[in-house]
Amino acid sequence: MSTSRRTVIATAAAAGLTAATVGSAAASGGAPRSEPFGQLADGTEISRWTLARGGTRLKVLSYGGIVQSLEIPDRAGRRANVSLGFDRIDPYVTDSPYFGALIGRYGNRIARGRFTLDGTEYQLPLNDGQNSLHGGDAGFDKRVWDVTPNGPAGLTLRYTSQDGEMGYPGTLDVRVDYTLTDSGDFRIDYEATTDAPTVVNLTSHIYFNLAGEGSGGIYDHRLSLGAGRYTPVDATLIPTGELARVAGTPFDFRRAKPIGRDIREGHEQLIRGQGFDHNFVLDKGITGRPERAATLYDPASGRLMTIDTTEPGLQFYSGNFLDGTLTGTSGRVYRQGDGLCLETQHFPDSPNQPDFPSTVLRPGQTYRSTTVHSFAAR
Ligand code: GLA
Repeated sequence: MSTSRRTVIATAAAAGLTAATVGSAAASGGAPRSEPFGQLADGTEISRWTLARGGTRLKVLSYGGIVQSLEIPDRAGRRANVSLGFDRIDPYVTDSPYFGALIGRYGNRIARGRFTLDGTEYQLPLNDGQNSLHGGDAGFDKRVWDVTPNGPAGLTLRYTSQDGEMGYPGTLDVRVDYTLTDSGDFRIDYEATTDAPTVVNLTSHIYFNLAGEGSGGIYDHRLSLGAGRYTPVDATLIPTGELARVAGTPFDFRRAKPIGRDIREGHEQLIRGQGFDHNFVLDKGITGRPERAATLYDPASGRLMTIDTTEPGLQFYSGNFLDGTLTGTSGRVYRQGDGLCLETQHFPDSPNQPDFPSTVLRPGQTYRSTTVHSFAAR
């Protein structure tokens, strides 16, 4: 704990305030500030930035643009960190299943790491069996971003991905803005331009547990998704190309239901993913402004999160590959289902699926995507 925070608490204690009260006061103001968060093996210093606004406090690393901590209040006003992660840099480099990270150049899988664009075939690194996952073994989650404060509760993160990096064509200039709004919503704006035709699909890989990271499983969280269809996958988790109806299947989240209700149904798709690990086709489609995609509610704490996005898809991943081998931020071990991801995106393997919305970006065009996480408690 910093000296100043200790002083605040001591002063508050003298004034008869509780720690929770101090917390929410501290969450509502102050310009973005940074502090050291260790260094990489090559000596590169990593910084951690803190933003606070309207009851939300967000901590972001220059490494991978990682959301290292996201604190929001419960129905009693008590804040908890609702995003899985680590308390130091090393495990982010060596062990992390993309905790909190920015994902690029291509979120999710590309079959056999191969695609053809304008008649040229490109080969990407295979880092997920026979496929390429999340931009390859050194995707945007493993890069050091240039971070600058932007407004009272915002950060701009920049990264230039070189032509040929991880097998992708074109120099890609990427800008991501992380902003906390006055009401404490967490908004992410992505932008990218290229100097040669390429494919782009950016997302954020936060693992949420609205009861607090390290507190147990998320199967009692109630989830609703604005999706009447999803993209079923083959045995290697590549979409078959079909847009299957969710009606009458465990994939029907059109009305809120506990995540655990149908997860053990023995549906072939759930066996393949070891749970939910599927792209949902949002009924709203691609939109110019963010529109509702998902609502997540934890009845125990009362924390509620909604996700609005401009994207046409959302990967719902129920933390299936967490297996008790990682120790998280607060020193507790993460087991299967201890966090879930809601990754707004274009569909997996789009470069090989002519019927999916295109992920091609050409010189002169600007890739834009926005996702807003709003928080409440009830
Ligand atoms: C995505 C993928 C999953 C898994 C996680 C990270 O959600 O779809 O299969 O790779 O990322 O482990």
